Amino acid sequence: MIDLAIADLKFPPPGIVIRELMREISKINYYPSGDYLEIKQAFCDYLRPDVSLGPENLVFGNGLDEIIDLVTRVWGGVNLIPAPTFSQYSMAAARSGHREISSNMLHQGKYDLDFDEADLRKASLVWICNPNNPTGDLISRKKIEQVINSARGMVAVDECYYEYTEKTVVDLIKDCENLIVLRSFSKNFGIAGLRLGVAISSPKNIMKIERIRQPFNVNRLAEKAGVIVLRHKNEYKKIWQRVLKIGKKFAAEIKRIGYRPFPVNANFVLVDFLDETKASEAYLKLKEGGIKTYPGWSEEDFQGSLNQHIRFAIGAERDMNLVVKILKS
Ligand SMILES: Cc1ncc(COP(=O)(O)O)c(C=O)c1O
Repeated sequence: MIDLAIADLKFPPPGIVIRELMREISKINYYPSGDYLEIKQAFCDYLRPDVSLGPENLVFGNGLDEIIDLVTRVWGGVNLIPAPTFSQYSMAAARSGHREISSNMLHQGKYDLDFDEADLRKASLVWICNPNNPTGDLISRKKIEQVINSARGMVAVDECYYEYTEKTVVDLIKDCENLIVLRSFSKNFGIAGLRLGVAISSPKNIMKIERIRQPFNVNRLAEKAGVIVLRHKNEYKKIWQRVLKIGKKFAAEIKRIGYRPFPVNANFVLVDFLDETKASEAYLKLKEGGIKTYPGWSEEDFQGSLNQHIRFAIGAERDMNLVVKILKS
């Protein structure tokens, strides 16, 4: 099967990254550093064009999934979740026994933030995913600023797919005590299998997470891989451009067939098949043709809003061409 269901990076890391990482394998008898200072310093340098921050502004996690759990444990008494969005915000709330207010933000095929003021006052933690998974829509900086200013609690902005658009609010951290920005190394630097994510916020907020994380929550190889991939970020830029190019071409083909692709701002494309029967037929046909995809109706958290939608991870050009060929037939 060609897996276009999970939106990890479908292209392997550059050869130089693999070679440098191989040298670290012989040292796995040692614990990770525990203070993660080297990767923190490297990530501060990586953030520098947008903002100048220090290691005290960062905490790393075993994938962004762990960070989402930790953030929820610290602030998530009442979680405000703009649906349809990444399911782990809701699942983390459930795992911690916290409350959730889910608010639909998808209107006439466009996802945009339009929180109820009363909900913003009630919530101890507001989630924003930008660009949003699974719709791919970008949320404007102005909208995010409005939420940060109106929210009574913490606002978590998940910029897991940042590298594809380079739109960020990380520079607001200096002035906004109620903002925490989240990034991952999975979709961009292609080390999803090693698990590495990071939260960026004020030192006071970061300390709250540091206090509850496990001492060696990030494994030694992930910590080293983080430093290595950041050193070779220019190599990755070519991969991100390639992913976007393939994704945009795929979206144009989908449009030509008569379906509606959502914006391509990350390594996936959501497609509206305009009809539930057509969507389930397409899903089954693709499966028969050896292509696994992510159907919107499989996710309880989408509350029926994506019953005629399928999300495709952007893979190699020949895989996307095969999808188009099957859909055309
Ligand atoms: C919006 C969003 N946040 C976080 C994650 C989790 O990232 P990680 O692989 O770093 O745990 C994903 C993965 O699908 C995602 O789509």
